[in-house]
Amino acid sequence: MKKVAIIGGGKVGKTLGRLLRKAGYKILGVVNRSIESAKKAVTFIGDGKPFRQNKIAVGDADIVLLTTPDDVIKKTCDGISKGKGFRRGAIVLHCCGSTSSYELLESARKSGAYIASLHPLRSFADPSTAIKNFKGTFCVYEGDKKATPIVKKIIRDIGGVSLQSKADRKALYHSGAVFGSNYVVALFHIGVSLFEATGISHKDATASLLYLLEGTIGNIKKVGVTKALTGPIERGDISNIERHLETLDIHNSQLAKIYSLLGSIAVDIAIKKGSITNRKGVKLKKLLKKFAK
Ligand SMILES: NC(=O)c1ccc[n+]([C@@H]2O[C@H](COP(=O)([O-])OP(=O)(O)OC[C@H]3O[C@@H](n4cnc5c(N)ncnc54)[C@H](OP(=O)(O)O)[C@@H]3O)[C@@H](O)[C@H]2O)c1
Repeated sequence: MKKVAIIGGGKVGKTLGRLLRKAGYKILGVVNRSIESAKKAVTFIGDGKPFRQNKIAVGDADIVLLTTPDDVIKKTCDGISKGKGFRRGAIVLHCCGSTSSYELLESARKSGAYIASLHPLRSFADPSTAIKNFKGTFCVYEGDKKATPIVKKIIRDIGGVSLQSKADRKALYHSGAVFGSNYVVALFHIGVSLFEATGISHKDATASLLYLLEGTIGNIKKVGVTKALTGPIERGDISNIERHLETLDIHNSQLAKIYSLLGSIAVDIAIKKGSITNRKGVKLKKLLKKFAK
């Protein structure tokens, strides 16, 4: 039975801890800043001892999860390494999405541990809900050759799906997640605000755009991203696009800029789809560029 120590039993630490415990791993200990918080994490996980001291908890763990906030992962790892807290051959993992293991956990490697990162592509607002919905969650990993087979096994054991990222490209991967999820919310917000500016209520704007978005998601699932593009750029409808840009520029010039920058990406997709010619694409980009500054 693999023994696990969790340094940082917060939203992610508690969720992974409970999932690992259910998958048959032994949770040795959970370390938080306050002992009260560590006790709560242990109760939630259903195993382990609560600690405030990193070294004691790590003990002879086979796997150490460093699930503290991102800005203290390196400092925490360095502190444990300095106290000779990691045993040789242990797997030390962090869960930060944008930074590689070698940037944050190098001191653990120097102490003889194998290092990796495991980023679950999911929002962990509430650990109980995250556990219920975890099955099928994509988990992006990178790390030492000796660590990655074990990390893949951990992901499989907790019901996730593994995806490997190049270590030096993690910030690109994480930006991709921002575009693919967080910025969809930001764009949706813009859409709702423009509907509201025409007199449509917030409730109706949300409902109608949600209906549209659900259709788009359905199309992406059915025909893939490129073929799912519809709308004026996909049709090469220059006069409509010009009208949008001029109106947006008066209403809120920032939105005209966003429209034009994203429009240029949409032009590339439309060319790839074959719905507009290269020549039409050049014309559209010239128009969009006027509003990009
Ligand atoms: N939240 C998400 O949706 C999400 C998704 C994917 C990946 N991640 C990654 O998961 C990691 C953890 O994020 P989180 O959202 O779980 O954070 P969190 O809920 O804020 O929990 C952080 C935990 O770390 C403890 N802690 C803070 N400083 C510490 C220290 N110096 N030593 C020991 N414990 C310390 C805190 O203890 P106290 O309770 O005593 O304050 C807290 O329990 C981060 O790397 C984050 O990027 C998060």
